[in-house]
Amino acid sequence: MANVVVVGAQWGDEGKGKIVDWLSERADVVVRFQGGHNAGHTLVIDGKVFKLSLLPSGIVRPGKLSVIGNGVVVDPWALCGEIERLRGQGVEISRDNLRVAENAVLILPLHSELDGIREEAAGKGAIGTTRRGIGPAYEDKVGRRAIRVMDLERVEELEGKIARLLSHHNALRRGLGAPEVDPQALHDELCAVAPKVLPYADSVWMLLDEHRRAGSRILFEGAQGALLDIDHGTYPYVTSSNVVAGQAATGSGLGPGAIGYVLGIVKAYTTRVGAGPFPTEQLNEVGQRLGERGHEFGTVTGRKRRCGWFDAALVRQTVKTSGINGIALTKLDVLDGFEELKLCVGYRLDGKRIDHLPASEAAQARVEPIYETVEGWSQSTQGARSWADLPAQAVKYVRHIEELIECPVALLSTSPERDDTILMTDPFED
Ligand code: GDP
Ligand code: IMO
Ligand code: MG
Repeated sequence: MANVVVVGAQWGDEGKGKIVDWLSERADVVVRFQGGHNAGHTLVIDGKVFKLSLLPSGIVRPGKLSVIGNGVVVDPWALCGEIERLRGQGVEISRDNLRVAENAVLILPLHSELDGIREEAAGKGAIGTTRRGIGPAYEDKVGRRAIRVMDLERVEELEGKIARLLSHHNALRRGLGAPEVDPQALHDELCAVAPKVLPYADSVWMLLDEHRRAGSRILFEGAQGALLDIDHGTYPYVTSSNVVAGQAATGSGLGPGAIGYVLGIVKAYTTRVGAGPFPTEQLNEVGQRLGERGHEFGTVTGRKRRCGWFDAALVRQTVKTSGINGIALTKLDVLDGFEELKLCVGYRLDGKRIDHLPASEAAQARVEPIYETVEGWSQSTQGARSWADLPAQAVKYVRHIEELIECPVALLSTSPERDDTILMTDPFED
């Protein structure tokens, strides 16, 4: 029996939320291990839509424990807001089904402000972040001046921690022409939010170790996608955390041996939100059609997602950087009705053929995709729940993707609805 890690294998928004929700029926514990409320995971259950940013997607199933691991950056106000919003939708949330790592770093208002100030100042060079303060919060974590969940408990020590943090931030803010942050005001804000967050605080490494020894099934829920990984993504157009599957161990306090199966979530075409290279982007009616049929608007910021053909070269690469054992291919239905489909199988760079994305920003901007064209299908695959319901050309497309990315398809998704999912290999049993 394996614990399963679900990670995005493109630039995010591959449908991780839907698949984690579907798989969580087979799990006992669902753990977020990186990122923050830059994530937007959408679940559709019997027509009811749930949008999650910080809470693990297991939260909607009664009897499952949801855990926010130490690798996540937690905005306590966003967390409280999301808990209230979900309660309003009838989801019960208490310490019985939600824990937050005591050693997780907090995102403060000064982080989201700084994120916004930098993006504005960068003009055309902006990353296109979600402006949620993710990058600045991770900077403070590695700068060893962050305020963590557990610090909310020891108010007498908070003053010194705030002073240390603000000696850095107020110097920075003076340089940027932003007003300084008042230490007392920040202290008051933290003291006000503390009693709402502390009931969920826990030693997550210890909790997960207990669950592991008791034989619980643990499902790790990644945010973003491998191409947004701080090391392995399209730097600098990336997020500020490690997104690849290895982070599931570091970001939760379990060893790498706790990870059994890595499921990569892959969209049947490609999308990206924000700036940065995107070799198969279609700035034409193809991209427009994918965006319309796929409802490609960001869950968090509402921004229009950039759309393009499936890039097998990229996914072949992320299968390796995340150690993916099988993929869940999502949004196949969005391709219904295309007469022909294109798949990128490699690139041309300065006249030479290469089979992977080069590491440098300049080369990434220069690569030209090499396409294979395949036949599309006119029948609908939307809502298909068995392999036999798929038209022959759709089956061929899926099989061809498997060959090109050198990895099998374990699950197939044919609509936003939880149960419109076809299982080929059970990741928990493989
Ligand atoms: P995540 O960030 O990876 O969880 O993905 P998002 O939730 O941001 O974006 C995926 C979107 O596609 C959501 O609106 C889902 O409801 C939707 N979705 C997921 N799977 C499918 C599918 O197989 N077909 C269609 N048409 N939509 C899907
Ligand atoms: P889910 O989990 C898609 C992108 C932003 C920007 C870059 C850096 O829903 O797949 P950040 O705010 O993290 O500093 O922004 O990363 N980004 C995402 N794109 N899906 C996400 O999450 C993303 N989270 C961040 O658009 O380009
Ligand atoms: Mg998303």
